[in-house]
Formats: sequence, structure tokens, C-alpha cells
Amino acid sequence: MPKSFVAKHIEKLPFAGIRRVFEKAAKFEAAGNKVIHFEIGRPDFDTPVHIKDAAKDALDRGMVHYAPNMGILSLRENLSDNIEELKGVRYNPQTELLITAGGQEAMCLCLQAILDPGDEILVPNPGFSQFFSCTELAGGIPVSMPLVANENFFPDLDKVKELVSSRTKAIIINSPHNPTGGVYTMTQMEQICGFAKEHDLIVFSDDAYDRILYEGKKFISSASLPDMKDRTIIWGSLSKTYAMTGWRIGYLAGPEEFIRAAVKVQQNIMLSVCTFAQAGAAFGLKAPQDLVDEMVAEFDIRRKFILDAINEIPGLNCPTEPLGAFYVFFKHEVPGLNSMAVADAMLEKAGVAVVPGTAFGDKGEGFLRISYSTSLEDCREGMDRINQVMSDLING
Ligand SMILES: Cc1ncc(COP(=O)(O)O)c(C=O)c1O
Repeated sequence: MPKSFVAKHIEKLPFAGIRRVFEKAAKFEAAGNKVIHFEIGRPDFDTPVHIKDAAKDALDRGMVHYAPNMGILSLRENLSDNIEELKGVRYNPQTELLITAGGQEAMCLCLQAILDPGDEILVPNPGFSQFFSCTELAGGIPVSMPLVANENFFPDLDKVKELVSSRTKAIIINSPHNPTGGVYTMTQMEQICGFAKEHDLIVFSDDAYDRILYEGKKFISSASLPDMKDRTIIWGSLSKTYAMTGWRIGYLAGPEEFIRAAVKVQQNIMLSVCTFAQAGAAFGLKAPQDLVDEMVAEFDIRRKFILDAINEIPGLNCPTEPLGAFYVFFKHEVPGLNSMAVADAMLEKAGVAVVPGTAFGDKGEGFLRISYSTSLEDCREGMDRINQVMSDLING
């Protein structure tokens, strides 16, 4: 009998809940059914042509070799300007920025660089599931920080205080938030930053949706609040902003000492990120941003449509209006059925793929997530189908 191929800590790592939905939906589709895809968390738009052209041009100019570990300088410089404009805080492109393969790698590198075995991180629940698994992969302990649905999915900080121990190293902020679309108010951001200072915690700010806000909401960066830049690390991404999920471009922004440590991890993981993709991204950051605004305006039409539809369907309601990202996280009330069972019924009875709230932690029980990164036509058809399933489920 050969030795085990799987390390014990990997065996324990859960398979991402959202992937299970993809797989079920793919099987259902392969059997000849039409599926409305409300499960996919990526913009359905194409990457803007000027970004693609810049990458093609970079290829033609021979940008086919390794990039520096930290990323090409022009991207770091343009990113630095872009962050300053959006977040009101300046990062030195030479020392305080590191280009990563998406926000996902940013998160992973950061946790590997910062955590010693047994260090604890306060993780929003519900929250992006990789916050939990990447912490575990890095030898840390994710400590679930429940969010309060009726309070704009903000944590009850009096209760979070009880979760802080001598091993708590950081707290994760993700505003706009996946899966709820929640956006913290300035007061909430001040409160959570005050909490981080009081308990001497680092703030990990996941800014994946920093350009996708509605109703005139402005992005608020924890790093821009007084005395916060030195204790904030940003996990950033160009994936959602420029419909570039397949390009794999993200970044880490933080204090020089941290970036130096993260570069050492990068040298052992990716070495560097795809060079011509970085050239395209650098161009995208400097070019006019009208296409981003147009994409967000289109998302907003779909957001309003889905919210109105949810409010009219018996057994569904949305406790907090989502003001960012492209998700609606809503409650279902079907006696005797949990989120997984309701999500399964929507797929099996009506061919609509939604994600059960429990894919984002146990506090997501009772909720479903819809991603409206699909056409308005599909949103219409999907909500009609959901209406039908809900009345069948409720009326038995
Ligand atoms: C909150 C959040 N962070 C990070 C990511 C990772 O995105 P990417 O690696 O494409 O930048 C995602 C992707 O869905 C996300 O929702």
C-alpha cells in the first residue's frame, strides 16, 4: 500500500460550497435542461477592447518573459495613482505594492506571510468561503464573526469583543461584501477601525468590489481613516472592475515590511504574474473609466429588478438592500426546508442555479445568494421560475 497522497490538513479542508453548485448545475445542463445561472460571481461583460489591445501589443513587443516578483513597475505606478484617487491613500509603487494572481492570491500570500501556527483571524460569517480555508491553509484559525442581517450585515462588536484572544492577529473587512452586497456606512467603518485599534488588530480589507457601488455610495477604505494605513493590508483585484476574472490580476497594498515578507512567499509560489496581462491591466487603470461606469449602471438595472421581484414573491424577503457588488442575499421561509434543500429545488424543479447561504458559513442558513451578473432577460426568466417554485413549495 503506497503512502497517502493527501496531507491530513488538506483532507480536512472543505471543498468550496459554491463549486458544488456549479457541478450540479453543469450536470443538469448536460442532461439537456436550460439553466439560468444566478450562481456565478463574475461579470458577464467582455474585457474592454483597449485593455485587450494593450495586452496584445505587449505580446507583440516581446513581453513574454518573467516579470519582476513585485510586478511590472508601470502597473504598480498606475495602481498607486488609481488607489490614491479612489481610496484617498497613497502607496509607494516601489515598496508598498505587490502584484498578485487575482485577489485570491493576494489573500493567500498575505495570510502565509503574516500567520504563525495557531494565530487567529476574525472572519465575517457569512463571508467569502476562502477567508476560512486560506486561513487554515496558512496554519491559522479562522474565528467566525457573525454578521447581523438587520444591521446592514455589520457585526455586533460587543459580542466580537468576546471572541478576541491573545492570539487574535487580524480582522477581515469586505465592503462591498460578498455574499450580501452590504456596504458599510462611514460610522460603521469608523467603529470597526476603532475596534481594531482598541484590540491592536491588523485589518485585512478585501476590496474586490471597490468600484461596484450603487445609489451614489462612495467606496470607503479603512486605510484612509486616521492612523489606519499602518495597520491595514488591502487585498485588491481588477477581476470584477474590468471584467478580467480570467486574466488573474490583483494586488497587495500594505506597509513595506509586510510587502517584503509577501514577496518572499511569492518567490516560492508564482514567482511572478503573467507579464503581458499586467501590461494590459496597467493600460486599463490609466485609460478613461467610462466603461466601468456603464457596467455598473447596467448592474444597477438588474439589481433593482431582482429586488423588486424578490419583494413580490411569497416566502422571500431581503433584510438589507444591497448597495454594492452584484449579489442579492435574501431570506427564504419554506417550512421544513433548509437553504441547501431550497437551492436544490430551484435547480431541479425550475433550472435556476442559486447558491445556498451556507456556502458562506453556517450563519448563511436561511438565505440564498443570487448573482445578477447575467443578462436582464435571464434575470426576468429566472425570477419567473423562482416565483413558480416558491408557490409550489409553499402550497405543497
Ligand atoms: C470577496 C472576494 N474576494 C476575493 C475574490 C477573488 O477574486 P479574484 O481572485 O478574481 O480577484 C472574490 C471572488 O469572487 C471575492 O468575492
